[in-house]
Order: sequence, then structure tokens, then C-alpha cells
Amino acid sequence: MILHILAVGDVVGDAGLDYLSRHLRSIKKEHDIQFTVVNGENASGVGILPRQADAIFDAGADVITLGNHTWNRLQIADYLEDNDYILRPANYTDRVPGRGWGVYEGPRGLRIGVLSLIGRCEMDCNFDNPFTVADRTLKQSDADVVLVDFHAEATSEKGCMGWHLDGRVQALWGTHTHVPTADGQILPKGTGFITDLGMTGPAQSVLGIKPSQALNRFLGGLPQRFEPADGPCKLDAVCFSIDTGTKQCVAVERVTRMG
Ligand SMILES: [Fe+2]
Repeated sequence: MILHILAVGDVVGDAGLDYLSRHLRSIKKEHDIQFTVVNGENASGVGILPRQADAIFDAGADVITLGNHTWNRLQIADYLEDNDYILRPANYTDRVPGRGWGVYEGPRGLRIGVLSLIGRCEMDCNFDNPFTVADRTLKQSDADVVLVDFHAEATSEKGCMGWHLDGRVQALWGTHTHVPTADGQILPKGTGFITDLGMTGPAQSVLGIKPSQALNRFLGGLPQRFEPADGPCKLDAVCFSIDTGTKQCVAVERVTRMG
């Protein structure tokens, strides 16, 4: 059986959330998607509120992954404890709520494992090593198929994770930069990989933020509270096709919608 997985790039703000709600189901239908993972850590600009997580599930996500902004909206803390279908990075310490790994029922009883990890290059360094956390998690995994969202800044760190997990997971994608990369590929041992999915949010923006505000920072102006940009939105995603017999990815295809 060929399993089609959709990984959707970071949803930014109310506009991104609205765009996801209006388009995700038709994209899933068009690409015969059986399982969908959406990165939701920017649904609130920075962080995510329970009602925004609910809206992402309502839009058609099976699992929500998060990242470095998980705790910018602390209202999500109890939700992370109570809901198995939303994952914060697994390499946070045990002192924070929630979980970073889950196994979910897919089509025909397939057990689909999803792992959320965060990188350490150019990020807060107070995380456990994502590479060894991945090793430990996979050692204990009883999933048939494993998917990984590696939320990281550095392309090198994301590339290294791809090679580190090649042949041990079926799909691994990067999130966080909000800029889609053109390196979708199948690694030698069968893992589908892309450095970054991109984002779901305002298209005429700097990473989803109002260009004037982002530029102000580089011009040395007073700090401002970033706001999502206005204007039309886009959705960046990647479809991974996985042969569940060989446990190898057979296709990595970018899926975008705009306007
Ligand atoms: Fe992020």
C-alpha cells in the first residue's frame, strides 16, 4: 500500500489559520492524503492557543507539531497534557508539560509514529540533543511508519538529521524558517526528506510578518511587537508517498496553494 502523508508548513496568525481551514480538505482530497501533520506553533503569531489548536484539527489535521514558540502562550500547557494529538518538541526537558512523540492509528490499522524535535543551532540551546533523543525514541518505537518534524534554523543541522535517521524513519521534514526549500529528495536508505516546508500565511510578508516591521529591526529602529502581514495567503506543504511494504518513501512532492 502507498500511504500519502501531508506535512503542512507553520501556520501563521489568524489569516494563515483561516486559509488552512478553507483549503486543507480540498488539498487532501486532491492528493489522496491519508494522514496530515500541521506545524501550528505560529498560529498565535508566536505560540498557539487552545482554540487555535482546535481550529487546526477542525481544518483536517491529524497531528499538530510545535517548536520554539510553544510556551509563548502558556494557556496551551494543559491542552498539551490532555490531548495526545498535539506534540511539543521531544527534546524539551521533563519539567515541561506535554509530549513529543505519539503513535496514531492510520488507515488499515497502520501505526503511524510522529516525532517532534527542535534544533539547537541559532536557537535557545537549553534542549536535549535532538539526535540522541531521536535514537532513544526510535529504539522504543513500535510504529509501522515514523514521521519527524525537525523544527530548526540551520539547514546543516536539518540535513544532518536527515542523514542520521535515513532508513530508520520514512519521512523527515524541517520547519521554522517559513521559507520552502527546493531539495525534496529520497535519501539512499529510503527516507523522504526536505529541509523546510515553508509556511501557511500571508504571502506578501517577511516570514509572515509585516515587511515594514521586519525591516525596522534591520534598520535599527525601536523594537516593535511583530504582527502578521495583511494581504493574500499561501499554503506550503509536502506530500510524502510511503510504500508500507518496503517501509521506504517513494516520492516527495511539494504542494502549494496561493491566492
Ligand atoms: Fe519556530
